[in-house]
Amino acid sequence: MTDLHLALDHAAGRLAAQLAAGCRDAIRTGRLAAGTRLPSSRDLARDLGVSRGVVVTAYEQLIAEGFLVARRGDGTRVAPNARPVPESSAEGRQPEGRPAPRRHGQLTDPPPRLAPSAPEEGDAAGVRFDLTPGRPDLAAFPRSRWLAAYRTALQSVPHRALTYPDPGGVPELRAGLAAYLGRVRAAHADAAQVVIMNGVALGLSSAVRALVAAGRTTLALEDPASERQLPMLEATGARIVRVPVDAGGLDVAALARTGADAVLVTPAHQYPTGVVLAPERRAALVDWARAADAVIVEDDYDAEFRYDGDPVGCLQGVAPERTVLLGSVSKALAPGMRLGWAVAPPWMASDLREHRELSDLGGPVLDQHAFARFLADGAYDRHLRAMRRRYRSRRDALVAALHEHIPDAVVRGISAGVHLYLELPAGTSETAVVDVAAESGVRVSGASEMWSAEQRRPALVLGYAALAEPRLHEAARVLGAAVTRTRRHPNRPSSEPAVTRTRRHPNPA
Ligand SMILES: Cc1ncc(COP(=O)(O)O)c(C=O)c1O
Repeated sequence: MTDLHLALDHAAGRLAAQLAAGCRDAIRTGRLAAGTRLPSSRDLARDLGVSRGVVVTAYEQLIAEGFLVARRGDGTRVAPNARPVPESSAEGRQPEGRPAPRRHGQLTDPPPRLAPSAPEEGDAAGVRFDLTPGRPDLAAFPRSRWLAAYRTALQSVPHRALTYPDPGGVPELRAGLAAYLGRVRAAHADAAQVVIMNGVALGLSSAVRALVAAGRTTLALEDPASERQLPMLEATGARIVRVPVDAGGLDVAALARTGADAVLVTPAHQYPTGVVLAPERRAALVDWARAADAVIVEDDYDAEFRYDGDPVGCLQGVAPERTVLLGSVSKALAPGMRLGWAVAPPWMASDLREHRELSDLGGPVLDQHAFARFLADGAYDRHLRAMRRRYRSRRDALVAALHEHIPDAVVRGISAGVHLYLELPAGTSETAVVDVAAESGVRVSGASEMWSAEQRRPALVLGYAALAEPRLHEAARVLGAAVTRTRRHPNRPSSEPAVTRTRRHPNPA
């Protein structure tokens, strides 16, 4: 058994804190090497003459901080990455090489425990800068706070809560989300209207299926829109009609001419152009929906991140009787969590709940309880506040760098979200820029596939959340060089329709 040589001052009290501090110190100085198995709590408690609870508390604290890992059947060990770090290699760490203390709104979490060979973001062959849109900064995922919320949930849910859940979601999370969305998005929600979904994607396909089943078969879709959502929507059996988006957002007059029964909109930050739906258009959209007895499907995918101007409340708060609001943690935390929600009028909420019951009997219970706890503790708000600051500064850096390196391109859609829209200079080939940038290690997504064939125009959709400011600057420089090179390159076509694209990058949006 590992001999820890820990001295506790019994008279000073706070024994768990003393023990945790002693272990941290031993790990930092290398006395306890990565992977070392620690004594069981029972053995260590006996050695130190303290109660077992003292050791359990100290170990839990160190696990939450990332110094230790515990696995069933393998006891508690020093985390593989919890080794002393020399001062000079300290990006994202404290100078003395310890994981940063947890402060209010502070982002540095214990580094991820990855298998040694696991590639990290941006390590894909040849990709130095990944500006693929639709992703938050995954390195900032609040691992310890999520772990703490998950642990609390696991410790507190009664056994009976581990059975099949309410397919609409666990009541604690539905209530928590109703309150959160009311407070932050000005939604008009009560828990009975909230249905937990695997992301916006499931909410969207379920809502449109419910509309089709209710005889509302024509769905209007913004032009441009996420090219990922189009096949998903077509698979619902709805007839899709496209409605142009201009500088004010969705053209509501054009929408009215389609005779659609429902419309899918991204009013807080149009995808991909980033336009915020103008106030008069919002009012006109609600008027149209009421007059046409139509339903508004509101994709609120990145509305947590609003940098300039007043926050824009959701449309659902204005017309709750005919709007279904869809959101998820995909931009705020991580898309891989597959955790989202729909807030629907009562008739549709019961359809959505039934659809979940008929398709998968509901989502994972513990994840929902953990998220409910994460919300209730204020950890979600704190994380969002901190990320907003981080993303705003990254956005500013990218916008400045694009102005410097591609001065004749037009930057749009920057007031919110985690991507911006770059209209390429006249005569530039989108495909050529995407390909040449990729050859230089910069991965970007072209926008032309997001437009209907008639409206197509060359542009890029750039996600900036995951790269620090100097890297964004460098990426913009390389991109600028790609734009210049493609303009001058005599063998490259100067423009071509999107059907001749030679490369298609995965785009999660
Ligand atoms: C327009 C749009 N809606 C929704 C989402 C999020 O989908 P989900 O919540 O299913 O991850 C994205 C993600 O990039 C998106 O671009």
